Amino acid sequence: VKLISNITKMQEISEARALEKKRIGFVPTMGYLHQGHLQLVEKSVADNEITVASVFVNPTQFGPEEDYDEYPRDLDRDLDLLQERGVDYVLYPDVEDVYPEGFATYVQVEKGTDVLCGRSRPNHFKGVTTVVSKLFNMVKPHRAYFGQKDGQQLLIIRRMVQDLNMDIEVVACPTVREEDGLALSSRNKYLSPEEREAALIIYNTLQKTRERIEEGERDGWALKKAMEEAIKAEPLANLDYASIVSRDYLQELSRIEGPIMIAIAAFIGSTRLIDNVWLEVE
Ligand code: PAF
Repeated sequence: VKLISNITKMQEISEARALEKKRIGFVPTMGYLHQGHLQLVEKSVADNEITVASVFVNPTQFGPEEDYDEYPRDLDRDLDLLQERGVDYVLYPDVEDVYPEGFATYVQVEKGTDVLCGRSRPNHFKGVTTVVSKLFNMVKPHRAYFGQKDGQQLLIIRRMVQDLNMDIEVVACPTVREEDGLALSSRNKYLSPEEREAALIIYNTLQKTRERIEEGERDGWALKKAMEEAIKAEPLANLDYASIVSRDYLQELSRIEGPIMIAIAAFIGSTRLIDNVWLEVE
């Protein structure tokens, strides 16, 4: 695997590979890789002649009170994991090169970004769509891989790619879970053993809600209330949101129908975790 920090160099490599008619798959990450990321990488390596992964902890998607400085980082370990999976290039740009002095341009999707995670993290998705656009311009991929675990992010990036006519196929990959159902996340490492146990309330509540919908419940507010109560009943959990939304513009549904996402965010101790499941409801 080749580590590339220089953005122009990355663009030159991608142009040369594309001229050789090689398909480029791209997996953007913030590093500290787990099986969830590696699944995206494996899919890209299987689907494309060239795979580029990026490791960049993007400051513009963290709020002032959030964990940008403490966000876990381990480049050597990440490089070993990416090398083992057959990744060709790792883009690892400097913050000063991505956001040089005078930087003043942002990409903002105007629907679906101020709900769910966007409500408690006001500029988060603006930071995500900006950096993903920039990374796309650096890597020039044919396909880009995103996890369904960050469901809102995935839907917003799809919207951006469609709205801005970006010639990139967005590939969604299912959430990877621990055996008991907890979604893998770089932030799980912050959990104490008791919190790790308590964190399961998120997936269990999503599952329970899915079952109730499959059994015929269509009242969105009743389902939302039941989710909120279930999370509040766990002493170590502090609810951020529990919502059932449409998958087009992430509107909360009073009546459950169509392609939907059931989504929960909660603090377990001081660690904020998110998870979601997708359903097609007749
Ligand atoms: O999902 C992530 O890790 C980040 O939001 C992403 C897509 C790499 C952009 O910084």
